[in-house]
Amino acid sequence: MIDMSSNLTDGISLDVANLSVEDTALEIKNLDLFYGDKQALFDISMKIPKKQVTAFIGPSGCGKSTLLRCINRMNDLVDICHITGDINLRGKNIYDRDVDVATLRRNVGMVFQRPNPFPKSIYENVIYGLRLQGIKDKRHLDDAAESSLRGAAIWDEVKDRLHDNAFGLSGGQQQRLVIARAIAIEPEILLLDEPTSALDPISTLVIEELITELKKKFTVVIVTHNMQQAARVSDHTAFMYMGKLVEYSDTNTLFTTPAKKQTEDYITGKYG
Ligand SMILES: Nc1ncnc2c1ncn2[C@@H]1O[C@H](COP(=O)(O)OP(=O)(O)O)[C@@H](O)[C@H]1O
Ligand SMILES: [Mg+2]
Repeated sequence: MIDMSSNLTDGISLDVANLSVEDTALEIKNLDLFYGDKQALFDISMKIPKKQVTAFIGPSGCGKSTLLRCINRMNDLVDICHITGDINLRGKNIYDRDVDVATLRRNVGMVFQRPNPFPKSIYENVIYGLRLQGIKDKRHLDDAAESSLRGAAIWDEVKDRLHDNAFGLSGGQQQRLVIARAIAIEPEILLLDEPTSALDPISTLVIEELITELKKKFTVVIVTHNMQQAARVSDHTAFMYMGKLVEYSDTNTLFTTPAKKQTEDYITGKYG
């Protein structure tokens, strides 16, 4: 198909297509993914910019979560899942045989739809990853707990009850706690899979503001089925449809002047 838009190559706008190595957090190349013999992702190639927010949008079942889970190899846990193609992180394909998946997941943290704190205190939740790394120094752990909780915009709400059970927090607070737990181990990339879909509108807004803060330190990739949310929080947006990357460009362009008819139909609510 001939692309009529001059600033696009195959649905990908030039600013992301031509992203320099220094500005690229990760590069996905010709990624195909199968669940058994059913193909769920088709030849996905894209560069994710460093320290920005990139949103994956598209109708339910189009492969957003599947693609997100490829980035920290969560799909390894699915027996029938088979992947070809590359995801390069600092010049190394994360699917190479010699990659240590535990190390990868320390660099690429993930937050899910439903907040999943552990049945432990707020404090122990935040420093969980540090304990796993064998860090015992109390001062170090205390400092990490405070800075991570501050980083997740929840410190003021919990500083006087750090040793209470995390289950006593509201859903929105639990989700920020889980984000604090994810950032405590200082990943490079944070993957958020519909992080606000189980939250009320106020908590959603708090998390959206937090995401804008997080990109100062981390590369954020967020899956959302909420187009307004993508428009509010992301710098770049990728529209997916039936396992394919249809269009990927800066968020403003994608929502105001989409290049592809499928994108336009989706953002104007023709399906979804
Ligand atoms: N563990 C799995 N086993 C088999 N098929 C799956 C699995 N997870 C997702 N799929 C299928 O892959 C496709 C993409 O799903 P998903 O990535 O969850 O979409 P989205 O997040 O965009 O709603 C769907 O057809 C879904 O049924
Ligand atoms: Mg999903």
